[in-house]
Amino acid sequence: MTALGFIGAGHIAAAMVEGLRAADSPEDIVLSPRNAGVASKLVARFPRVTVAADNQAVVEASEIVFLAVRPDVAPEIVRALRFRADHIVVSLVALRPEGEMRALVSPARHLVRAVPLPSNARRLGPIAYFPESARARAIFARIGTPVLAADERAFHRLWSLTGLIAPYYALMESLASWAEEGGVAREAEQGYVRALFQCLSAMAQDGKLDDLARQAQTPGGINEQAIALLRASGAFGPWREALAAVNARMNRGLDDKAGG
Ligand SMILES: NC(=O)c1ccc[n+]([C@@H]2O[C@H](COP(=O)([O-])OP(=O)(O)OC[C@H]3O[C@@H](n4cnc5c(N)ncnc54)[C@H](OP(=O)(O)O)[C@@H]3O)[C@@H](O)[C@H]2O)c1
Repeated sequence: MTALGFIGAGHIAAAMVEGLRAADSPEDIVLSPRNAGVASKLVARFPRVTVAADNQAVVEASEIVFLAVRPDVAPEIVRALRFRADHIVVSLVALRPEGEMRALVSPARHLVRAVPLPSNARRLGPIAYFPESARARAIFARIGTPVLAADERAFHRLWSLTGLIAPYYALMESLASWAEEGGVAREAEQGYVRALFQCLSAMAQDGKLDDLARQAQTPGGINEQAIALLRASGAFGPWREALAAVNARMNRGLDDKAGG
């Protein structure tokens, strides 16, 4: 039986374990001993999840190893591990390029970078990854929607979009409080905003985004009015600028290498 190993048992490892167990994924799951609190809760909640004695024991017990530690400590932690050539290593580590991680896991031949999301605990949401790996893709497909990036820069573009999670919720909150200022009860308003955005996202699954935006603009209607005002004030510009800044940070490791 295949085992999946996690080096780093924090937020994202916990989300993946929860999603995989909800999906009845057939593999055993082996966690590294830090963070003991998260790891022991996962062991208590789910069958066939164990904590190994140390990080190397995770590697030895697993065919697929997920690296789920923070970028600042990842090189030191991963360098200390001994991989086999046939290991599939999936790096979830931000800001550490494929080339750097590949060198650290040598002689393992298969290194995949991926960006799962906390919502994968509920088996929802995209998982961008690069390069192709049928094994990794099959695992991602159990807990979300795998999206293969054409190259590492494209992968960073997709990862950058996940920086809009907090702004998106903040936008929803701002809209809800605007309505509340007009006298709508807070709970009703939050419920309305949630239901509105949920239905727009559901509709967006089936249509082209620019068509949906066009169809919503009845001539002389309120959507036509609102989008014209937003465009005139450059409302989309700051979102693109934020993405560009995040993306530049992601690409720094690649640009440094390109620059020598
Ligand atoms: N959170 C997300 O939504 C998300 C999404 C995609 C990718 N990522 C990436 O995934 C990685 C982990 O993120 P996270 O949010 O899960 O961070 P996190 O909650 O801080 O988890 C990192 C875990 O690594 C553990 N750790 C530290 N030193 C270790 C060592 N020597 N050996 C084994 N484990 C060690 C920490 O244990 P202690 O608590 O005991 O220090 C902690 O539990 C990051 O590189 C991040 O960029 C995160």
